[in-house]
Amino acid sequence: MATAWDYAPAPESRDIVRIQERYGLFIGGKFVEPLSGERYTTIDPAREEPLSEVAQANKADVDRAVKAARGAFDGQWSKLRPSERAKYLFRIARILQERAREFAVLESLNGGKPIRESRDVDIPLAAAHFFYYAGWADKLEYAFPNRKPRPIGVAAQIIPWNFPLLMLAWKIAPALAAGNTVVLKPAETTPLSALLFCDVLRQAELPPGVVNIITGDGRTGAEMVAHAGVDKVAFTGSTEVGKAIQRTLAGTGKRLTLELGGKAANIIFDDAPLDQAVEGIINGIYFNQGHVCCAGSRLLVQESIYEATIAKLKRRMRTLRVGDPLDKNTDVGAINSKQQLDKIASLVQSGVDEGAEIYQPPCKLPERGYWFVPTVFTNVAQSYRIAQEEIFGPVLSVLTFRTPDEAIEKANNTPYGLSAGVWTEKGSRILAMAQRLRAGVIWANTYNRFDPASPFGGYKESGFGREGGRHGLEAYVALDDA
Ligand code: NAI
Ligand code: MG
Repeated sequence: MATAWDYAPAPESRDIVRIQERYGLFIGGKFVEPLSGERYTTIDPAREEPLSEVAQANKADVDRAVKAARGAFDGQWSKLRPSERAKYLFRIARILQERAREFAVLESLNGGKPIRESRDVDIPLAAAHFFYYAGWADKLEYAFPNRKPRPIGVAAQIIPWNFPLLMLAWKIAPALAAGNTVVLKPAETTPLSALLFCDVLRQAELPPGVVNIITGDGRTGAEMVAHAGVDKVAFTGSTEVGKAIQRTLAGTGKRLTLELGGKAANIIFDDAPLDQAVEGIINGIYFNQGHVCCAGSRLLVQESIYEATIAKLKRRMRTLRVGDPLDKNTDVGAINSKQQLDKIASLVQSGVDEGAEIYQPPCKLPERGYWFVPTVFTNVAQSYRIAQEEIFGPVLSVLTFRTPDEAIEKANNTPYGLSAGVWTEKGSRILAMAQRLRAGVIWANTYNRFDPASPFGGYKESGFGREGGRHGLEAYVALDDA
């Protein structure tokens, strides 16, 4: 007799996306051949199969894109009535909703994330950001009372591979709402949803040059940062590159916002609803394979409930389904790239070597593609690399505490400060903890919850500037006294 039930495969059809064999650069409202003459192959990390050839933009290509953005800014865009700007943003939002399934499949194909997440989180949130900022476009004087907001100019925007379309929306929506023009570069491993977005811009009839999308690796990003025609740089990615960008921009007068890494504490008090907290822990670290800057990667459990929490956590981990990102039953998809897989594997090895205890549920991984089994480390000392460094993978480190003071001290004992979670029944304790945690976003009795109206950003080495909400507009306006 069967003792366990297996899920039958439930793959989402990929027929809805038509990926071109090769792409140029989207500059001045159309695709152009890269002046560099160089291309590289972008792949499906779950199958290690090529998907398309995309351009590696060089200095001359960046220059061309910045000039197109400047032309559009000096031309009609910055002078357009704000309510007209809003119409374009509303259109983009609606088209994203109409084409949501196409974008979800493409996002999962090129990035490895489960279709359940791209379908239910990434794409709806991307559309929501455009809707939200569309609403602000003609109300900027209410966002900044007694000030005279005006656009800054050309924004160079560099985004990572963990939420490709969503990060594009976080960057482009507030920039356009405030009347700026944009040159955006997606990450080298996940260019395809940004390239499909160019077709949305065509459908929305956005004036040429307002948004330019160029592809390439870090060298292209560095050229964008260094270009003299850029007025503002917005970057999401590693702390290392963020620091390099800040060095390049020092003294130039260009505006900068940085959204960098994190090593968030997810803090569970002994009065927390434990089953809900375990769901929050799972969502906090295994959502999007842990490729999340605000991931709850350090679990702090109050000592008196340690055994019960770990037992429930391990039991829940055994039910996670790892595999084909396009399968609707998949919880944990593919690791985004070979490079990231190697980084995760080496940090996990360091945890074993330093003496932490590792647990990985039994798990059958596909033969091809980049995979990593959901992992939890117990017996972790604060000094271990797995407790200090951002792993950016499905790996959780567990620490314990006895008092709220000790929890605060341990939670803040990191160079980062992006997010944190607090699980407790006491409202007063939530407020007291939130005041003392040095983190930009603090979730209470939930985790990884996003809303376009809520600002997001870091303390310390997690960066500066806020994205989302009214705060997110600030980075894209110059404020004169009224
Ligand atoms: P990265 O910081 O190198 O890449 C992010 C973006 O910056 C990409 O578009 C890349 O092409 C661009 N870039 C790279 N070098 C640049 C430079 N010198 N100037 C301008 N742009 C540049 O991140 P990477 O190498 O993909 O991942 C390494 C680690 O960084 C991850 O393991 C993770 O810990 C962290 N990371 C954090 C992210 C976050 O959301 N905060 C996102 C991606 C990575
Ligand atoms: Mg890098």
